Amino acid sequence: MEFESNDSNWDGVYYYPQLFGGVMLTAAVLGLSTSYFGGTVGLPTLPYMLPYLKNLQKKKREKRKIRVYMDGCFDLMHYGHANALRQAKALGDELVVGLVSDEEIVANKGPPVLSMEERLALVSGLKWVDEVIADAPYAITEEFMSRLFNEHKIDYIIHGDDPCLLPDGSDAYALAKKVGRYKQIKRTEGVSSTDIVGRILASMEDKKGPGPNARVVYIDGAFDLFHAGHVEILKRARQLGDFLLVGIHTDEIVSEQRGPHFPLMHLHERSLSVLACRYVDEVIIGAPWEITKDMSQPDPYSVPKNMGMFRMIESPKDITTTSVAQRIKANHEIYEKRNAKKEASEKKFYEERKYISGD
Ligand code: CTP
Repeated sequence: MEFESNDSNWDGVYYYPQLFGGVMLTAAVLGLSTSYFGGTVGLPTLPYMLPYLKNLQKKKREKRKIRVYMDGCFDLMHYGHANALRQAKALGDELVVGLVSDEEIVANKGPPVLSMEERLALVSGLKWVDEVIADAPYAITEEFMSRLFNEHKIDYIIHGDDPCLLPDGSDAYALAKKVGRYKQIKRTEGVSSTDIVGRILASMEDKKGPGPNARVVYIDGAFDLFHAGHVEILKRARQLGDFLLVGIHTDEIVSEQRGPHFPLMHLHERSLSVLACRYVDEVIIGAPWEITKDMSQPDPYSVPKNMGMFRMIESPKDITTTSVAQRIKANHEIYEKRNAKKEASEKKFYEERKYISGD
């Protein structure tokens, strides 16, 4: 490990076990020679050396563990968090996570979506987490830092390479950096709690559906290699009513019907071509071959049920994806405000970040 521990002797002993052989051999020789000289040269004789050597070996066995600390809100858990904690764990032996309290998140960022209890369940469920300190502060104050070092025996405080600023614009990790006990991991691009809240807010925007008395026309097909024939048929279909819904067959269905080299374009490429056509109002991506009476899905578990292999497990929690999204939608004004601020600082971070060239 390229890391310095608080007691470097232990690391040295641990990593160079071959030294022991050397020490013992020298001691044996010295033991003989000192008794030969009647013990007058001031070196301990072999019986005196034994407890010392035993102690050294015991220390070798009990190599001191490096304890690292990473804090955060961990609201709406995502793979960026998992990757951060995985990297943090790799910087030591034991990872302690500080879960910022609901009150501190409100004061520094705006309201979290998930409660402390829910965030605790998520973080504790991660593979790399050894201990969790609930209700941690947002900023590492002098007092909290000495608690981390003395009570929790933390060696290093870790955070992603994105700036973590307090409302007054100062760095939340300034003190830890000053005392040389701060380490950084690489932030994962393309995901953040702010981004997920943004996606949920965007899903609230009205979708244009057919009006109450609209005549909806349905047409389906492969729409592979979108061509002039497709445009013409979609135009005619649309003229039959007020709203055109297009079902696009799955890649598997197209292969079954047309042969193994088809489709030439995969389902998402085909869907984008159809959606771009001016006569199309909506698409069903992956429509069935056969149009059933109500187009509803059959029971997906009917086979294991018939084979007697199906078990239903009761969930002890009533939380669902929809209910979490609903919390954001119900308070959308607060989250829109919170996100506007955070999105701006995230954008600035990505724009200003520097690349290291391979030259
Ligand atoms: N983190 C990361 N990669 C991400 C998001 C977070 O490495 N894409 C790291 C942060 O740098 C921090 C830890 O995960 O060390 C906890 O992050 P958190 O406080 O929950 O912040 P974000 O997910 O960035 O949430 P928000 O958008 O609300 O700031």
